[in-house]
Amino acid sequence: MLLSPAGVEALRTALARAAYTSNGIADRLGPQATGGIARNDFRAALRATADLDPLATLIRVFICDQTEPEAAVAAALAPLTVAEALAGGLVERHGDGLRAGLDLEPYADDWWVLADLPVSSRPGRPLHSEHVLGIGGATQTLIGAAVRRPVETALDLGTGSGVQALHLATHARRVTATDVSERALRFAATTAALNGQDWELLRGDLVAPVAGRRFDLVVSNPPFVVGPGTTTHVYRDSGRVGDAIGAELAAAAPGLLTEGGTMQYLANWVHVTGEDWGERVAGWFAGTGLDAWVIQREVADPMAYVNLWLTDVGEAADPHRAAAWLDWFDAHKVEAIGFGIVSLRRAGHADPVVRVEDLRQRVEPPLGGQIAAWFDRQDWLRAHGADGLLDARYRAAEGLQLRQEATMGDEGWAVDRQVLAMPHGLRWTEEIDPLVLALVGGADGRLPMRDQLALLAAAHDVTPQELAEAAGPIVAHLVERGIVEPVTD
Ligand SMILES: C[S@@+](CC[C@H](N)C(=O)[O-])C[C@H]1O[C@@H](n2cnc3c(N)ncnc32)[C@H](O)[C@@H]1O
Repeated sequence: MLLSPAGVEALRTALARAAYTSNGIADRLGPQATGGIARNDFRAALRATADLDPLATLIRVFICDQTEPEAAVAAALAPLTVAEALAGGLVERHGDGLRAGLDLEPYADDWWVLADLPVSSRPGRPLHSEHVLGIGGATQTLIGAAVRRPVETALDLGTGSGVQALHLATHARRVTATDVSERALRFAATTAALNGQDWELLRGDLVAPVAGRRFDLVVSNPPFVVGPGTTTHVYRDSGRVGDAIGAELAAAAPGLLTEGGTMQYLANWVHVTGEDWGERVAGWFAGTGLDAWVIQREVADPMAYVNLWLTDVGEAADPHRAAAWLDWFDAHKVEAIGFGIVSLRRAGHADPVVRVEDLRQRVEPPLGGQIAAWFDRQDWLRAHGADGLLDARYRAAEGLQLRQEATMGDEGWAVDRQVLAMPHGLRWTEEIDPLVLALVGGADGRLPMRDQLALLAAAHDVTPQELAEAAGPIVAHLVERGIVEPVTD
């Protein structure tokens, strides 16, 4: 740990006593200053904390990144001593006072997460090669995407600050967290102790420390950045060439999961000129026997991607690094890089479903419930088979919208395009043809789909069998996306 067990307990006492929690800070500062902090505008917060009581001092030091007199910091951290805080790196001397040495972030209702300060806090100071990442966008993406159902065992691969493990402990009886970095594990152990949690912490490369063990839920925000395989910062670089880490995790998944278990990880994948990116990524799961749902949330061009990741570690000014990285992309015909979430489930079926799709629209958070529901719908489809699918009754999703584009002609409006739009959840929009329009329009929960199709067949002069064959995969797709829902009553 970064502090002794007694030191962590002392820090916890100090933070709790001062009410240095998300809610305590919001109560103290009010909405305007709290909103300012979210935008890195500390002016209102600094005004509201001019009297250096313990909470004000903690806010000024750890949130507004101010240097404060040693006596005030000592009073705020007591019973943790300044000597212990300096030795643990929590604070550092600066001018004639003390300032933050680490990111001590109040998180969720009453948690604290320890991480390194971001590069923007100490411009010019190179990031440690084992820099421990704070709670950034990718971290939050995985937090939101994780399926939060009660489980016995959960694993966080590449735990860093331990923030994913904190969440896992809310719905898993036992939490294991691993990291290749000894330094990261010290941070994670401190985060766990500070929040009164107890996780098994193991050091090693990816799945090596848990070889032969299985878990009900595995989450990982790995070092997914794609490039030539150069490793300068362990939070970002896996040492694997290209997007191999995504494939490696997929290959490891069957051996990591209990029956029915779920694994979710963030990944980047390359879009190679002349190749279908989706087929490429789907290939990662061939032979795993797992159901897989991969959603691509963002796509970046190589230049923007390299700039983003060089800025992330404060190396944006180094033209050689950027050039070498871009040359590698050129040599490998990489025209873009996708970012997304991989969700896998060991369903124990001979015919796993592998779906790789673009889901770049804004979705209703959190995503985790939608991902769990997607796997539930796969179970339902599998359990009902092609026949059962047509025997069921369906209702269109609540609030489902139909949007039409039409052109005015001599005969009045001529419809050019019809789009179904889900206003909630994943907010799918799909262009549809008249058959789908009729199927969804008739889904009022009363008639089995087979009878609905028979009526349509009679109206369009085709046999019910022909229509049923054509409609089966369409109905399955509508169920998979939750556009129509089976009626169970
Ligand atoms: C992007 S950070 C994620 C940290 C944290 N889990 C989160 O969600 O914010 C990736 C983490 O993986 C660790 N890591 C890097 N390479 C690894 C490897 N080969 N095996 C295990 N962990 C690794 C890093 O030390 C770092 O803590």
